[in-house]
Amino acid sequence: MSPHSSSAKDKPNVGKESFADVLIFWQRHQGRHNLPWQGTRDPYRIWLSEVMLQQTQVTTVIPYYTRFLERFPDVTSLAAAPVAEVMALWSGLGYYSRARNLHRCAQQVLADHGGNFPTDPALLEKLPGIGRSTASAIAVFASGAIAPILDGNVKRVLTRVFGIEGYPGEKSVEQTLWLLAESLLPEKNVEAYTQGLMDLGATLCSRTKPLCASCPMNALCVARATNRTSELPTRKATAPIPQRQVAMLVIVHRKQILLEQRPDAGIWGGLLSLPEVDSDELKRIRRAAAKFGKVDACEALSSFSHTFTHFKLQIHPYAISLKQRKPLDKSAPFAWHKLENLEKLGLPAPVKKLLQKLV
Ligand code: ADE
Repeated sequence: MSPHSSSAKDKPNVGKESFADVLIFWQRHQGRHNLPWQGTRDPYRIWLSEVMLQQTQVTTVIPYYTRFLERFPDVTSLAAAPVAEVMALWSGLGYYSRARNLHRCAQQVLADHGGNFPTDPALLEKLPGIGRSTASAIAVFASGAIAPILDGNVKRVLTRVFGIEGYPGEKSVEQTLWLLAESLLPEKNVEAYTQGLMDLGATLCSRTKPLCASCPMNALCVARATNRTSELPTRKATAPIPQRQVAMLVIVHRKQILLEQRPDAGIWGGLLSLPEVDSDELKRIRRAAAKFGKVDACEALSSFSHTFTHFKLQIHPYAISLKQRKPLDKSAPFAWHKLENLEKLGLPAPVKKLLQKLV
C-alpha cells in the first residue's frame, strides 16, 4: 500500500501507514531536534524530562532540567538527596506532587532495580508518578519500544485528525483514543513518530488558532474538512447554571427611595441595593414593605434576569409607594436616599438600569 492511501475500515479517512509516514517525514524536516533531552538513550534523563514536561511547556522546563541534572546527574544521587533539596530545585515548576514522586521513584529504582532505570513500559508504569503515557514516552525514547503516548496534546491531535467526538476525559472516549493511538503506531522509526505527535500538538495543532495551513495532516484532518477545529476536542459538559429568584422592592416615599447596604460577603458586597424578598408572592411583598410604612400602592413590574459567573438571578421588581413612613430600625442596613442622588450611589448595574427606567 502506498503511504498516502487510506484503507483501515475502522478508521475514517486515513490509514495507519499514511498517518505514521506523513508524521515521521514531517518530524524529520519540520519537528524539534535540539531539545536538551534529545540525543540520549539514558532513561534517567528521559524520565526526568518527561515528568517535568507533564502539564508544563518546553521553554519553562529547559532551565529546570539543566539545573536538576547538574545537581543530580544520575538516579543514585537523586535517591540519596534529602527530599527538601529536590523540592527546592523544583520550586517554581508547579504540580509539586511530581517532585515528591520523582524522589520516591528514584529510591524505588534503587531498591527494586538495583539503580538501573527500567525501559519496559510495564515496569515503568509501576513506578510513582509514571502513568501509561509517560511510561510509553520513556520506553520509546530510551529503547525504541513500540508503545503509544496519549497526553493532552496528543488527544487534541487525534480527536481532530480522526474526528473523535466526546470529552476525552471521559473513560469511554479515552479508551477509544488509546486504541486508536495503539493502532496508529509504526513498526519503524517510533522515536520520530512519537516526537512528531508531541511536536504537532505543541507547535501547530494548538488549542486555539491551530496553524492548519502548515499542518502535514491538513489533507487528512476530519476537523479541518468539517470546519470543527474549534469544537474538537469536545469540551467537558458544563452543569447547567443554577437560577435564583428574588423580588426587589422599589419603595418610594416623598421623592426618596429605600435602599439596603449589602453585607460585605456575597454578591454585590458593600454596594447599596434594593431591599429583597425571597418570594414573588404579592402578600409577602406587601408584608415586607409594610415594615417600612403604610403601603399605598404595590405593582408588579416586568421581570428580568442578570447572569453571574455561577448563577442566574431572576429579578421580579415591585413598585411600592407609601402613604406614611415608619422610623427605621437603627441597627438595620436600610436608609432613605433622595431620588435625585441615585446617579451618584454605588448600585449594582442591573439595579441601576431598573431605577433609571423607573425614575
Ligand atoms: N512533551 C512531553 N514530552 C515531550 C518531549 N519529549 N519533547 C517535547 N515536548 C514534550
